Amino acid sequence: MRTNTERGVSAALEFLQQNAEHNLKQLDEFLRIPSVSAAPEHRADVERAARWVADELTRIGAEHAQLHDTSGHPIVTADWLHAGPNAPTVLIYCHYDVQPADPLDEWVRPPFEPRYEDDTVYARGSGDDKGQLFMHLKAAEAWLQGAGTSPVNLRFFFEGDEEVGSEPVEDFIASHPELLQADISVISDSDMYDDDGTPAITYGLRGIAYFEVKVSGPFQDVHSGQYGGGIENPANVLVKRLAGLQDENGRFTVPGFYDKVRDLSDEERAAYAALPFDEEEWRRSVDVPRSSDGERGYTLLERMSARPTFDINGLWGGYSGEGSKTIIPAWAAAKFSTRLVPDQDFAEVERMVVEHLQRITPPTVRIEVKVIHGGAPVLTPLDHSAVSLAAAALQRAFGKAPLFHRGGGSVPVVAALDKRLGLKSVLIGFASPNGNFHAPNEWMALANYRGGMNALVHLWDEFGRVSAQELRDG
Ligand code: BES
Ligand code: MN
Ligand code: MN
Repeated sequence: MRTNTERGVSAALEFLQQNAEHNLKQLDEFLRIPSVSAAPEHRADVERAARWVADELTRIGAEHAQLHDTSGHPIVTADWLHAGPNAPTVLIYCHYDVQPADPLDEWVRPPFEPRYEDDTVYARGSGDDKGQLFMHLKAAEAWLQGAGTSPVNLRFFFEGDEEVGSEPVEDFIASHPELLQADISVISDSDMYDDDGTPAITYGLRGIAYFEVKVSGPFQDVHSGQYGGGIENPANVLVKRLAGLQDENGRFTVPGFYDKVRDLSDEERAAYAALPFDEEEWRRSVDVPRSSDGERGYTLLERMSARPTFDINGLWGGYSGEGSKTIIPAWAAAKFSTRLVPDQDFAEVERMVVEHLQRITPPTVRIEVKVIHGGAPVLTPLDHSAVSLAAAALQRAFGKAPLFHRGGGSVPVVAALDKRLGLKSVLIGFASPNGNFHAPNEWMALANYRGGMNALVHLWDEFGRVSAQELRDG
């Protein structure tokens, strides 16, 4: 049995190596599709990306590849279920949509014309998350085509709304449990530990609650000399109230917000403290004069992944053209979000924030608060057998043991799979942590990409050595 699987692993790894050049051409083709989920003008492109993925799934030997219409963009599913009666079934999740690429003039090459330099690919989606989705296609192909079989049953679950809040995903999970039935889920939408090839297992992600607020005053912009002092300025109100959402200790001021925040245990704080982290190098990589104080009482790494945050994402209204214009604007607006941590409930936070803003708004203006999207925070079990198998696979591929870290970002599907199907997820990401996610010149080291595909080949081998039952029970 053992030699059999060793032969399979070698065949799959060799298949990857032999097709390396061709695979990069295909990655290039995939990255060229501008699948920006937030942009209505890219709707057809998002669908084209979904089709590209479905066609590719069929080509590599997966079955039942299909696009499912949703309230947003299509969800792509497929399966390969011929690994035998006791073999585990793995659900693979990634997203094929990407963030908008602006500001375009900051890209060295256009975002959807991949640039290759120093064994690195630069393109929107190279790390988040099309590059990683592609790695899963290739690892599966390597097993199915290179070795002629797979040690585990595979189910694929790819969405096109992750970057806009994954709203259709929860309904889809509820209405198609049969397509997602698995013993474990593997999600590649996070990063490695550093840019030097240290692999990582992400054992937690933050949740999110995202809002848009508009404060309105006079029926139209009015002369600030004629009316100033007599009517409230909506922009003044907006910035003052937003600023008031954070206190001098860096804490969010909405009452009840911290009630359900789970404290870090001493063990976890010790684990955080033991992670290698060069603060000065990190500071230089983002080019800030100093790190922020943030929430007092927590270390930088803790604040960036294990504590909630509040951020204004955009602020507009009034005059911002050349020179000056003396007005009291008719309105001012902002988008802001809070990152959440276990055990905060995003729906509760949404209610608290909306009510609080309404309560503190002076009677001189009108306010409208919209909830844009929410996602639940997660902590995945570290003592799950899938985690030690994943660690072994990463060690085999990268020659280094993975480090365990929590991610500061959010992937709403993780909590949804657990809540709806009781399905646990192992989060192994291969993106470069400084790889400009959501930013100009997003990149991914091709070494991560090669190592990652190898790791996935090893992972299916590791999972294939245990029974479905063992993997399901943890
Ligand atoms: N892949 C990221 C999340 C992430 C980033 C996880 C870094 C771990 C490390 C994902 O695509 C993302 O950006 N999610 C959004 C979710 C939101 C739109 C609901 C996020 O975190 O802002
Ligand atoms: Mn992502
Ligand atoms: Mn993202």
